[in-house]
Formats: sequence, structure tokens, C-alpha cells
Amino acid sequence: MKNVMIAAIFALFAFTLLDNAEAIHNGWFAPDEVVGQKNPFLSDKGALAEGKKVYKKNCMKCHGPSGKGDGASAGSLQIELPDFSDKGITMEETDGAWFWKVRVGQFEMPPFQLALKDDQIWKAIIYVRSLAK
Ligand code: HEC
Repeated sequence: MKNVMIAAIFALFAFTLLDNAEAIHNGWFAPDEVVGQKNPFLSDKGALAEGKKVYKKNCMKCHGPSGKGDGASAGSLQIELPDFSDKGITMEETDGAWFWKVRVGQFEMPPFQLALKDDQIWKAIIYVRSLAK
């Protein structure tokens, strides 16, 4: 009986976790093979400044100046934007997963694989990470 109880509590817990992740990312998950990809620009000193430029030009209108999802165009979107200033949210995704998401886009998140070079996307991700407290 005790084991059944423990199993039930565990299942409930796992379900709640899954539910949160679904809500935050709208059920949008990168494929397993890209999740472990490392950001090649982590030790590049100029990456943060370049990433900031890319972000201001391409991302800020939706994601907002501090990543809170309060950019000028955010109000016209149907889905809630992720809060990049919240470490609890940004920690859930790897750079590899984000790189993939920014390249291919989904629904109201535009795909950037043609508009930006890969290195610009990696650097923008470094900047987005710097917004999380
Ligand atoms: C037109 C508005 C818009 C622009 C411009 C935009 N985004 Fe997004 N972005 C979104 C929306 C909406 C979502 C949520 C998509 C979803 O969950 O279905 C999103 C999601 C994301 C995610 C996934 C977050 C997660 O953990 O699931 C990342 C990373 C991201 N955007 C980065 C960027 C970057 C970097 C840029 C600029 C190169 C950018 N976005 C430009 C609207 C935008």
C-alpha cells in the first residue's frame, strides 16, 4: 500500500512539472539531438555586445528591452511571451534548444534562419541569458 501511495505522489509530481513546462513553452520543445549543442561563442569577449545589437534590432519589439515580453508589438500577439528576466524559466532550456527555436520559429515567433547568420543567433542567445536575474 505504501508503495502505491509513493508511486501516486510521484506521478502527480511528475505531471505537475510537465504541466508547468507545457504552459511556459506552449508545448514547444526542440528535438533531442540539438538540445546538447554547446554555444560556440561562450568565451568570445565581443559576443555579448554583438548579441545585444542583434537583440535590439530583431527581438526587442516583442520580447521587450529587459526580456520581460513587453515590447512594443507584444500587445498584438495572441500568445504570452516567455519572461527572459526570470531565471527559473530560462534555465529550463539549453542554448542548443534555443538556437533551434530561433532558427525555425513557431507560430508568432518568427523564424530567423534566413534573416540572421548562425553566429548572430548564438550571440543573441548569450545576450538573452544575460537578462535573467
Ligand atoms: C514578432 C514577435 C517576436 C520577435 C520579433 C521575436 N520573438 Fe522570440 N518569441 C515570440 C513568441 C510569441 C514566442 C513564444 C513562442 C511559443 O512558445 O510558441 C517566442 C519564443 C522565443 C524563444 C523560446 C523561449 C522558450 O524557452 O521556449 C526564444 C529563445 C526566443 N523567442 C528568442 C528570440 C530572439 C533571439 C529573437 C530575435 C532574434 C526573437 N525571439 C524575436 C515572439 C517573437
